[in-house]
Amino acid sequence: MEIINTITEIREFLKDKKESGFIPTMGNLHKGHLSLVKQSNKKDTCTVVSIFVNPTQFGQGEDYGKYPRTLEKDLDELKAYNVDAVFFPDEKQMYREQELYIVDDGDLSNNLCGKYRPGHFKGVLTIVLKFFNIIKPERAYFSRKDYQQFVLIKKMAEDFNLDIEIVPCKIVRDSDGLALSSRNAYLSKQERQNALSLQKALLETKAIYRNGELSSKEIIESAKSILNPVKIQYIELVDPDTLKNVEKVNGKTVMAIAAFAGITRLIDNTVLGEDDL
Ligand code: PAJ
Repeated sequence: MEIINTITEIREFLKDKKESGFIPTMGNLHKGHLSLVKQSNKKDTCTVVSIFVNPTQFGQGEDYGKYPRTLEKDLDELKAYNVDAVFFPDEKQMYREQELYIVDDGDLSNNLCGKYRPGHFKGVLTIVLKFFNIIKPERAYFSRKDYQQFVLIKKMAEDFNLDIEIVPCKIVRDSDGLALSSRNAYLSKQERQNALSLQKALLETKAIYRNGELSSKEIIESAKSILNPVKIQYIELVDPDTLKNVEKVNGKTVMAIAAFAGITRLIDNTVLGEDDL
């Protein structure tokens, strides 16, 4: 496994590689990240993982400084998964001193996380576009854990004719049902217990939908009553492509939740009309 720090070297490494798959990450890898690697391993002849805690996607007062950085452990995990190359650039590689252009995130980020984290998706799209231009993969893997991120990146790839297949991947959960996240490390025992209510609310939502409830208001109310004692930031039912709120569930619909357990912000979602959570 090659560990590469510069754009010049990763380009040189990829020069004669065909069918490469790319998994961008911010490190502190868990089984969720590794499930994306597995999918690429199955499909691509060369798998590249990037590890970069991207400063431009963190807002003021967010956790950029304390975001867990665990490079050695991450590299050990990736070696075991037969990754071909890890791209681990520093900030200077990825951002010149005075850059003029960023990717506008547009209307798709008026709702859900975009509404509460102004600038976040501009940072995400800009860094992902930079990575795509460096790696030039055939396929890139993103999980639906960050559902809005996945939709925005897919749309960016379409609008800019990037010719990269954006592969959606499932959410991986811990044995207790909590969606894996690097931020789970911030949770105390009690907060983690409280955080389980996100998954419980999603399960309840699926159950009442299956029993015939289609009104968004009703579905959201019953999910809210389970989200306890976390502090809800948003809980919405949205169209899976436009991310606009729906009043009535009609076909596949995403239930997306953001909530705080203590000071830790957690997100989770599920698609009504699909079997698994
Ligand atoms: P990060 O949070 O490290 O996530 C990297 C990838 O792992 C994303 O596609 C994310 O959706 C996926 N992932 C996170 N939790 C998961 C889980 N429980 N199950 C399956 N996959 C999971 O997302 C980012 O980094 C950044 O915004 C990035 C795209 C790298 C741009 O900086």
